[in-house]
Amino acid sequence: MDKLVIRGGRPLRGTIAASGAKNASLPILAATLLAPGEHKVSRLPDLMDTSSMLSLLGRIGCPSLVGPTVRIDTSRVSFNEAPYDLVRKMRASILVLGPLLARCGEAHVSLPGGCAIGVRPIEQHLKGLEALGCVFELDGGYVHGRVDRLRGADFRFDITTVTGTENVMMAAVLAEGTTILRNAACEPEIVDLAGFLGGMGARITGAGTPTIVIDGMPALRASRKAWAILPDRIESGTYLAAAAITGGDVTVLGADPDDLAPVLEVLRRTGTEIELRPDGVRAFRTGPILATDVDTQPHPGFPTDMQAQVMALLSLADGTSVIRENIFENRFMHAAELHRLGARIEIAGNTATVTGSPSLRGATVMATDLRASASLVLAGLAAHGTTEVLRLYHLDRGYERLEEKLGALGADVFRAAEGRPVEAARAV
Ligand code: EPZ
Repeated sequence: MDKLVIRGGRPLRGTIAASGAKNASLPILAATLLAPGEHKVSRLPDLMDTSSMLSLLGRIGCPSLVGPTVRIDTSRVSFNEAPYDLVRKMRASILVLGPLLARCGEAHVSLPGGCAIGVRPIEQHLKGLEALGCVFELDGGYVHGRVDRLRGADFRFDITTVTGTENVMMAAVLAEGTTILRNAACEPEIVDLAGFLGGMGARITGAGTPTIVIDGMPALRASRKAWAILPDRIESGTYLAAAAITGGDVTVLGADPDDLAPVLEVLRRTGTEIELRPDGVRAFRTGPILATDVDTQPHPGFPTDMQAQVMALLSLADGTSVIRENIFENRFMHAAELHRLGARIEIAGNTATVTGSPSLRGATVMATDLRASASLVLAGLAAHGTTEVLRLYHLDRGYERLEEKLGALGADVFRAAEGRPVEAARAV
């Protein structure tokens, strides 16, 4: 396994480009199953998760050709199963359930199981698809789904769920009649998926609001135009937080200030200056990091995917901050690792009390999940001395060309095999 070796204490300065959003890419790739033909997607980020989804599509009989524009040929679906060995690597594989049912009338998808941040149930996905006429049986760790004809329905989610909204919306586009999804998630990635589906001939209104209306179509077709994935707001927010924590000055080209609004609002409260530019968003800090309280909420609230990164920033603030994680039940795994770097964080249930320290000191830390590892990298960039972040595969799931982008901003980082001592590795 790889580790990232960081020699901290250097302010990050410069300009990098935002990659396409991981959490828009995954549902959009799954959506290609809804219409036979060659689909084209540009700005698809080169991540472990997007590779996993392309492998899953390949396993289903839909090969892809990667390049600046990725081409996915969904002319034939020869296998309507998402096997455990793929799903266990990427729980978002559940996103092929709705499209496979709509395309084939039958689907067998391994239950994703839990992960480091929580149990991650999918009952809302199944209830929404059942409302459209699907029938499910859970057996042997798999969801076995069948549907004769998808029919439009008026369905309210009990819980706001991003991939649940996406799964049901993707099935509804081929249902007979109109579907109304209430208490739907409003994340920008859902708007991007709706745009991609619109390019295939789907009729969707209200994406990005809690009520989405879908007029089902008898068939869809692959768009002739390539769909450009929207910029990744979490990746962008992570690099803007890197500028804040190191006292640097970073511009993220292509970052969307509207999608980032709740993140920018919190960064401003920490004393970070934010400049909205025609080509992107700039963050820089000249004064101290200020303490502030943060509550994670569904969009347009502060995103849970930025909670760990902001916790790292607040561990160096003047004063005490309170962070409440309202989305996932176990998303403070990074706190124990930040503690090893000198952070002072007390956890009580879903609340973390962060008492700011004047500085952090480098140490070896363990990544536990994607965003937790990002927070450890941020802390290592600010810490005095060398930090080694182990189990780098967590980061590779969601951050494209991480060390290249950090290096372009002046960070002293390099990737090495976990077993190799730093000096030997650095000598390479
Ligand atoms: C999506 O996960 C994102 N993943 C997550 O990003 C993100 O953290 C999350 O939304 C919240 O914004 C992708 O888009 C691929 P949810 P998802 O269903 O859809 C509960 C990252 O780091 N729930 O919105 O799985 C659930 O347990 C990842 O990029 C049910 O109880 O999240 C959670 O507490 C991590 N029953 C809450 O709802 C269900 O049927 C929100 O989960 C579904 C969800």
